[in-house]
Amino acid sequence: MKILVTGGSGFIGRAVCAAAVDRGLSVTSLSRHGASLPTHTPALEKVTWLRGSVFDEEALEAALHEAGAVVHCVGIGRERPGKDESFKRVNGDSAIVVGEAAKKAKVPAFVFLSAGEKPPWAHEEYLSSKRRAEVALAKLCERLLVIRPGLVYGPEKRLASYAAGVLRLVAAVRTPGPRLEANTPISVGVVALAVLRGVLDPTARGVIEPARIAGFAEVALSTVG
Ligand SMILES: NC(=O)c1ccc[n+]([C@@H]2O[C@H](COP(=O)([O-])OP(=O)(O)OC[C@H]3O[C@@H](n4cnc5c(N)ncnc54)[C@H](OP(=O)(O)O)[C@@H]3O)[C@@H](O)[C@H]2O)c1
Repeated sequence: MKILVTGGSGFIGRAVCAAAVDRGLSVTSLSRHGASLPTHTPALEKVTWLRGSVFDEEALEAALHEAGAVVHCVGIGRERPGKDESFKRVNGDSAIVVGEAAKKAKVPAFVFLSAGEKPPWAHEEYLSSKRRAEVALAKLCERLLVIRPGLVYGPEKRLASYAAGVLRLVAAVRTPGPRLEANTPISVGVVALAVLRGVLDPTARGVIEPARIAGFAEVALSTVG
């Protein structure tokens, strides 16, 4: 099966691409700057890296050709108004645009990288854009899986890995409230496995909250594909 990962060159996108290639899927990524291979990961060399914006209708249509699933990993944590990068546009509109094109191309499955909580420095629009996109995608997609990670860490993100350690320590000494639960730290490899299950398991649909992602990813992938 071919999958399209929009934003496949980003932190989470790369982990998704590598996990999907390892699983034997044919993977295409679409992002404005094309390939991004900061570390030697043989799996990433097998990805078809397309250069283009999801807001470019032609580029998106070509990237979607023969895709059996789309994984939308486009998003920003900080706005750059001078570059037309607002939360509304990149975290919300981008997903809706891809959902509409996927519907037109009759792609049966859509996995959306949403968020459980906004970063402390970001304003409310970070999260409200994601929620708006979730509602729109639910109407557009044949099968939609929304993954809402809290803090995602990995070897490339030292600060996030440190913050994840602090959050885990806090959770160990006091009962996590909703705010702490929405930020349950999770490794980028586990998020990628959850995405892969979303792609391969025809029964996977709905919203996966931060505290449920690890359990959702744990289901042996050999049983679903
Ligand atoms: N990292 C976390 O802790 C975390 C936590 C919760 C949720 N999330 C969500 O997970 C998603 C991925 O996060 P990340 O940390 O992997 O972000 P990232 O590293 O910044 O990656 C974002 C990706 O989106 C691409 N992109 C941006 N605008 C685009 C456009 N117009 N067309 C095509 N591609 C575009 C970027 O490539 P170009 O710049 O080359 O286009 C890049 O590949 C985001 O939606 C984020 O909100 C992340």
